[in-house]
Amino acid sequence: MLPTLDARLSAAAELVRPGEPVADIGCDHGKLTAVLAASGKYPKVIGADLRPGPLAKAEQTLEYAGCKDRAELRLGDGLSVLSPGEVSTIVLAGVSAQTTWEIIEKAPWVSAPGGPRLVMVPATRHSDLRRWLWEHGFAFAADRPVQAAGRWYAVMAAEYTGRVYAPTFAECLFGSTGEWPEGKGYADWQKAKLPRMRLGVPDGSALAQEIDSLLAGLPSQAASRPALPKGEPLAKPVTLRGLPRPPTLGEVAARQR
Ligand SMILES: C[S@@+](CC[C@H](N)C(=O)[O-])C[C@H]1O[C@@H](n2cnc3c(N)ncnc32)[C@H](O)[C@@H]1O
Repeated sequence: MLPTLDARLSAAAELVRPGEPVADIGCDHGKLTAVLAASGKYPKVIGADLRPGPLAKAEQTLEYAGCKDRAELRLGDGLSVLSPGEVSTIVLAGVSAQTTWEIIEKAPWVSAPGGPRLVMVPATRHSDLRRWLWEHGFAFAADRPVQAAGRWYAVMAAEYTGRVYAPTFAECLFGSTGEWPEGKGYADWQKAKLPRMRLGVPDGSALAQEIDSLLAGLPSQAASRPALPKGEPLAKPVTLRGLPRPPTLGEVAARQR
């Protein structure tokens, strides 16, 4: 029997590049690995985990789903289980933001033009992961807010472009989740953390001003963006440091046409 995916993993599955090899890193129970393998849409599906226990669970899930022969399970740390260029999409779901970027940093072939798409569902610190990705030359193809088991998650897809960007605090907090109908709920959840974040930020600093205007309910850049059809370029917000926003993947693709 095919496992049921929660909203997080369903959204992640939708962001996998079709028709190309995919790896589910930190696969644990193996539900996503099984659904991807059973779909028959990908020439190679790899499920990997750091620990043998989860990998044994994944093997059982594949067996129940009747697709054990359509996926490979690998034991190891992060992307060390892959050879460079072996897959076109890497899913990193359910690990912390820090574990996510540490895994990416250990595999330099990922941060290279033409590298794989990263589909990420951080368990914690969404804002910090957005910042890390922008500051390390990645551009977002998607940033979708979803609710699962009563919690908010952001399902992100990013690809390396080499263009480093210095995001504002608000951009890190919301990403482009405001493009989705669920964006308001996600923004409210993120804003609820602001009073705690404000503690320890020196009064009068640019960050304090930005947090204070968000707390005062003034529209933030990201949260106030109108819902746009997918792939349509976003308006160019001005950042704290006056840098223009780098192009989205959709804009880059449109220019290349
Ligand atoms: C909470 S589970 C997430 C399972 C699934 N991806 C999901 O989102 O439902 C996290 C899994 O990541 C694995 N993990 C943590 N660090 C890892 C690493 N560096 N490399 C591979 N797997 C890792 C853990 O062993 C665990 O099975």
